Amino acid sequence: MRATVTIHRDFTISDIDERIYGAFLEHLGRAIYSGIYEPDHPSADENGMRKDVIDLVKELDVPVVRYPGGNFVSAYNWEDGIGPKEDRPVRLDLAWHTSESNEVGIHEFADWCESVGTEMMLAVNLGSRGLDAARNFVEYVNHPGGTYWSDLRKKNGKEEPWDVKLWCLGNEMDGPWQIGHKDAAEYGRLAAETAKAIRAFDPKLELVVCGSSHSGMPTYPDWEATVLEHTYDVVDYISLHMYFANHEKKTGNYLALTHKLEAYIDTVAGVIQFIKAKRRSKKDIYISFDEWNVWYHSSQQDRQILEGGDGWPHAPALLEDIYNFEDVLQVGLVINTFIRRADVVKIACIAQLVNVIAPIMTERGGEAWRQTIYYPYYFASRFGRGTALNLVIDCPTYDSDAYSDVSYVDISAVHNETDGTVTLFAVNRHPDESIDIDATLEGFEGLKVIDHQVMTHNDLEASNTRSAPSEVAPRQGNGAELKDGKLSASLPPYSYQMIRLG
Ligand code: AHR
Repeated sequence: MRATVTIHRDFTISDIDERIYGAFLEHLGRAIYSGIYEPDHPSADENGMRKDVIDLVKELDVPVVRYPGGNFVSAYNWEDGIGPKEDRPVRLDLAWHTSESNEVGIHEFADWCESVGTEMMLAVNLGSRGLDAARNFVEYVNHPGGTYWSDLRKKNGKEEPWDVKLWCLGNEMDGPWQIGHKDAAEYGRLAAETAKAIRAFDPKLELVVCGSSHSGMPTYPDWEATVLEHTYDVVDYISLHMYFANHEKKTGNYLALTHKLEAYIDTVAGVIQFIKAKRRSKKDIYISFDEWNVWYHSSQQDRQILEGGDGWPHAPALLEDIYNFEDVLQVGLVINTFIRRADVVKIACIAQLVNVIAPIMTERGGEAWRQTIYYPYYFASRFGRGTALNLVIDCPTYDSDAYSDVSYVDISAVHNETDGTVTLFAVNRHPDESIDIDATLEGFEGLKVIDHQVMTHNDLEASNTRSAPSEVAPRQGNGAELKDGKLSASLPPYSYQMIRLG
């Protein structure tokens, strides 16, 4: 089987906002406690943060991390996480039916972000709380000094403000499961007034308003239209979430779900344009896809933990999906979709980063290792920065149960003008045929293949565990060749690969 691809230097989609390689950390399960924070761990630094995890996160070069939730944020009092640790209250976390010790709060998270070299994206609670708590939090975090909240921050050990640019106005407020769930008009009004207050503090801050929790929500896409009617002038992004599952164990259907993702992005981009036109506005709003990942492997285990009557445990092993090789392909496809929609998707956060539906797993007191999905995320984050190119691809297709004409080959390409590289990320969705790629590169001089990484496995269910942490890992590819502007490469069945030209 063959695919032809045309890549032209001037045929571009958009500059990629590097924040599409963001991640998410919630006070949920073992994401924080025994994930990033474990003071008794042999690798713990002076802040009690696991150095082994810091190293793995640094390797990913994550540009931004959303925090502290998630559903958790909708009943969170941010003030519980400041001041001497021994005075911090233990609270019930109503979202996940657990106990929150508050040993980690904004100071500890901010220090951790500094250690891994990432920016904070903070969410305010618009579920159980509202404008007042939000504006106080923003003042505590960003005001230099001389006021009650900023001086309290100084007293708590942080002299300079953190100057956090990116703020989320609540989380999944369309979801009946959300503490303080609201209808679109109620939420739209609250979000607009909260945004106005935050803008009164600093008009340069970037604000993210909640869109739908997923495209199957009964209120989608009216929710987006109503919320944007109220907030268009005072926010910068609308947030979308989507999780991918293969309960039916049909790989062809599973790997076609990115068509659903594309339709979701297209629809919300259309709603944004609709409201923009209605308001006769010059302003653009973009998408913050601030929760996405594969999430289904742990469903049964979670039900047992949550329904097991274990009271209100602290940091139980919730949402600990063990990813397999098939998920490598899915994560590669999702990231390719974001690269191709770099014109409207400016932020995206893999949900989540450590232990909870995450590329990094840890053992309490023990090892930390890379899950299978770590790799496509790693390659894209490290090498997918620059300008997204608009490729012309001619390739055989298949029909999944829900979508027609699903291309067997999915490719995105990124041109980095600074280092002169072109990087291709390719997934072969075919179960048993290799696909030979003939790519013509136009407008590029003197490129050659400088790296070629391939991921294949004979078992779609293969995963990485503590005892076999490298069962699914990339290997150096061979056979990719660039001659006279023609790139040829072969994509084995069910494979992910990155080809770098420079
Ligand atoms: O990431 C896990 C959960 O998924 C988040 O708390 C919530 O926002 C979403 O439903």
